[in-house]
Amino acid sequence: PIRQRLLVVANRLPVSAVRKDKDSWLLEINAGGLVSALLVKDFEARWIGWAGVNVPDEVGQKALTKALAEKRCIPVFLDEEIVHQYYNGYCNNILWPLFHYLGLPQEDRLATTRSFQSQFAAYKKANQMFADVVNKHYVEGDVVWCHDYHLMFLPKCLKERNSKMKVGWFLHTPFPSSEIHKTLPSRSELLNAVIAADLVGFHTYDYARHFVSACTRILGIEATPEGVEDQGRLTRVAAFPIGIDSERFIRALGVPQVQKHMKELKERFDGRKVMLGVDRLDMIKGIPQKLLAFEKFLEEKPSWHDKVVLLQIAVPTRTDVPEYQKLSSQVHEIVGRINGRFGTLTAVPIHHLDRSLDFQALCALYAVTDVALVTSLRDGMNLVSYEFVACQDSKKGVLILSEFAGAAQSLGAGAILVNPWNVTEVAAAIEQALIMPAEEREKRHQHNFEHVSSHTAQQWAEFFVSELNDTVIEAQERI
Ligand code: UDP
Ligand code: G6P
Repeated sequence: PIRQRLLVVANRLPVSAVRKDKDSWLLEINAGGLVSALLVKDFEARWIGWAGVNVPDEVGQKALTKALAEKRCIPVFLDEEIVHQYYNGYCNNILWPLFHYLGLPQEDRLATTRSFQSQFAAYKKANQMFADVVNKHYVEGDVVWCHDYHLMFLPKCLKERNSKMKVGWFLHTPFPSSEIHKTLPSRSELLNAVIAADLVGFHTYDYARHFVSACTRILGIEATPEGVEDQGRLTRVAAFPIGIDSERFIRALGVPQVQKHMKELKERFDGRKVMLGVDRLDMIKGIPQKLLAFEKFLEEKPSWHDKVVLLQIAVPTRTDVPEYQKLSSQVHEIVGRINGRFGTLTAVPIHHLDRSLDFQALCALYAVTDVALVTSLRDGMNLVSYEFVACQDSKKGVLILSEFAGAAQSLGAGAILVNPWNVTEVAAAIEQALIMPAEEREKRHQHNFEHVSSHTAQQWAEFFVSELNDTVIEAQERI
């Protein structure tokens, strides 16, 4: 059988590009859930997206295009001004905080309101640039799968030009209550652009429901059991919770390099319980709140002082957005204060890393952890919690998980769920996790592990694409 061609369109390509020379590039695949999900047998996937670098010259663009082609990737070149207005501005300063229920900081509110129109214009322009690249590579019968809040205009751009194209759109963040979405000046335009797709997907049923009510309340269109209907045209809306490639993590734990790493970590932290946080340094992850809860725990339980360590990996992200810069200094200040307060000449309670780890180091860390702390204030799903569970089959450590992460709906029964805003509650959860009897840990782990190993990223992608194909067939039958 001929494999169906799939065009995956996302703002960020799954490879990072570093320029070596005038006409040569070094590429590295960032293997995340989505990447492995799309390396599946049943379709032939190509990626379209931004390589994360500014390439102003034609020689560089040509060379990069050629290098990326070997990885089945097709670049969209965005110049600095577009990146500033579309990516830093509209996407990450407006949509991202809004979709996570985090208002804009007081001092930025007016400035953001002033620049709103030009940033929205850049957003539409950028989406059209993605559409142009899709159109160039599209072949009849292809499935086009658009991803995330960066590309809410893309379904409309694509369908305007070719109403027969099979177009799906998936949101990796929460979709907020319609009361929140309503505050966006571009609220209707965005919704109308998204529902041009044939199928619209979210991680949880709540997000899908919020989206449907935003459509009925803001656009005044009908909700149906399948989705929303605008003048006889149906857009299917459904929940497709993502998963991870758990096998890849389990396999990694057997690799000698990872085992060596684990041994080193165990020796280094011998006699202490290891707590772990792994997050992009983002407001939504609740890192300051996590640190304050840990501080409260240390304050209240002095007997734990030299028996526990918190390793916090905070991966730098979106560093040109002022809000992220502020967060970075805030976190450093809190870490410094807590370590100054509770550290000794030979040990500190918090090890804070301002960088990313490679896959093997990350797996080793997950495997030696006693308690993982995920305190997102809001989070679409949160794959870190899944990855931790996948790596814990021998240790059976405890997951403390925010009730505001999408993952709370799937790992809720195995994790200790907390409200990350309630520092007292999180501090109590830390103690509960540290002293939890083995039998209870085992039971909770089993619950989570079963979920993580039976809901893979592959199934997720296959399910979305097959639903998209079915939706299009059904729509044709309706005519
Ligand atoms: N991750 C990574 N290197 C690191 C830390 C994290 O590659 O040093 C990966 C991690 O394995 C996970 C992803 O980053 O797959 C984070 O996904 P998640 O859904 O938890 O949060 P997001 O960053 O998408 O908001
Ligand atoms: C979240 C978003 C992704 C995004 C990722 C990293 O997971 O849902 O779309 O790619 O964060 O952020 P960045 O801005 O570096 O692409």
